[in-house]
Amino acid sequence: MTKVYVPLDFAAQAMGAERVVAAIEKEAALRGVNVQIVRNGSRGLLWLEPLVEVETTEGRVGYGNVKPSDVPALFDAGFLFGGAHSSSIGKVEEHPYWKRQKRITFKRCGVIDALSLDEYIAHGGFRGLARAFAIGPEKTIEEIATSGLRGRGGAGFPVGIKWKTVHDCKADRKYVVVNADEGDSGTFADRMIMEGDPFSLIEGMIICGHAIGADKGYVYLRVEYPQTAKVLGKAVELARAAGWLGPKVNGSNDFAFDVEVRIAAGAYVCGEETSLLESLEGKRGIVRAKPPFPAFEGLFGKPTVVNNVLSIATAPMILEDGGAAYASYGMDRSRGTIPLQIAGNVKFGGLFEAPFGLKLSEIVNDIGGGTLSGRPVKAVQVGGPLGAYVPVSLFDTPFDYEAYTKVDSLIGHGGLVVFDDTVDMSWMARFGMEFCAVESCGKCTPCRIGSTRGVETIDKIRAGENVASNIDLLKDLCNTMKFGSLCALGGFAPYPVESALRHFPEDFQKPALEAAAE
Ligand SMILES: Cc1cc2nc3c(=O)[nH]c(=O)nc-3n(C[C@H](O)[C@H](O)[C@H](O)COP(=O)(O)O)c2cc1C
Ligand code: SF4
Repeated sequence: MTKVYVPLDFAAQAMGAERVVAAIEKEAALRGVNVQIVRNGSRGLLWLEPLVEVETTEGRVGYGNVKPSDVPALFDAGFLFGGAHSSSIGKVEEHPYWKRQKRITFKRCGVIDALSLDEYIAHGGFRGLARAFAIGPEKTIEEIATSGLRGRGGAGFPVGIKWKTVHDCKADRKYVVVNADEGDSGTFADRMIMEGDPFSLIEGMIICGHAIGADKGYVYLRVEYPQTAKVLGKAVELARAAGWLGPKVNGSNDFAFDVEVRIAAGAYVCGEETSLLESLEGKRGIVRAKPPFPAFEGLFGKPTVVNNVLSIATAPMILEDGGAAYASYGMDRSRGTIPLQIAGNVKFGGLFEAPFGLKLSEIVNDIGGGTLSGRPVKAVQVGGPLGAYVPVSLFDTPFDYEAYTKVDSLIGHGGLVVFDDTVDMSWMARFGMEFCAVESCGKCTPCRIGSTRGVETIDKIRAGENVASNIDLLKDLCNTMKFGSLCALGGFAPYPVESALRHFPEDFQKPALEAAAE
């Protein structure tokens, strides 16, 4: 029976994937043809969703942007054998966007049936776990440390050190907490892996639990991801039924581990790890002062590893191939690969996993194809709403934690939002402050009050009121927020503002320039 792949990914669904499935089933029944519809994740070529693939003797052939009304013509064109059609993109794995990538974390995403344990195992699933059981907790942590893996949630803290700290704590209970709150603008990698390869996250959690001595893991999942909740929830059930979760995990010596998916509270600040822990404990999501760090006193006061989805989902590959293999990719202290999320005003938006070190000029112009509007790129916001606006003059900065810090930017969770030359950067600076004001947990003054004063000050600048002195005031305010805030929400909100001021000063002088021109 011919296999036809239609992604169950939320992005594909948003573009009509479910209606395409229904249309293919209906057309196949009408024509008396047997097809097996497989629900894979997305390959990350998001501008082509829904991307329908057909398994042929030559490999998988893709058809992009398929609409239900295209389906009869696809059957007429013999798409079940890879026949030519205007929507055909040829062999998917030959597509330059796919071929240029180095997929490690995402190696199975989009390839396999997302909810088939058999396919997961056939594609290397649980090999990392088997090795972790064979070498034991200390050596497992050593492999993670050797890989150089740093937290993909934003701060880039070495994962091996965090795991070792929790492993070394003496406590009656410990926890694994996966941060799946994914609130950064332009990011979707966590969602994609949880929908496209959910067992890799589950396997990573078991590996982490075994390494640190925890028997329980939570996934704190963004409330705006209902499809992820469905897929991941199902994957947990399947893993439990098959003995991969429960009182004796398959292949272990009586190691008990289970996973619970918790729906998040819908606040950006609940992605901050201590606020997340408060929320998981059933309280209001307010940031805790650190120390104590969650590694020592985390969930319910117990030693806890809090890691991003990608950090945990990469662990199985590291254990399978060895830390050194992962560390052989990347540059300087940024080892391995980074799943870039290319979004905003860009032609080929999607997920592109590559070793660290790519330049924005390659990512935006070459891989992303430039702006969708066809106008020149003005800036790219890298690292979410608290990330800096990177101007074209810095497009040669390699994608690397330290290189970005050197130019007062951050790579965060790897999200990139592209803007063309019509964007007004004083407006974007205002948005940065407004975002902080709306999302602030309210615990400390620089963030709670500072962000509101920031919006007011930018409004005055935009209205042409005492521009020079208000810009000085704004810079001073940014400084106070940076160094006086309790957490990175207030501490990093100045990044977009300061970068806009530094690289696009003319956008803060518009009323004066307009008056001079009149
Ligand atoms: C305001 C704010 C929001 C955050 N949101 C997220 C998030 O959605 N996902 C995430 O993994 N980390 C987020 N973080 C970072 C976490 O606090 C924490 O560093 C991370 O979960 C640790 O995992 P990692 O070491 O694997 O990156 C956020 C931090 C701040 C200050
Ligand atoms: S910086 Fe903002 S979000 Fe962070 S603790 Fe202070 S008020 Fe809360």
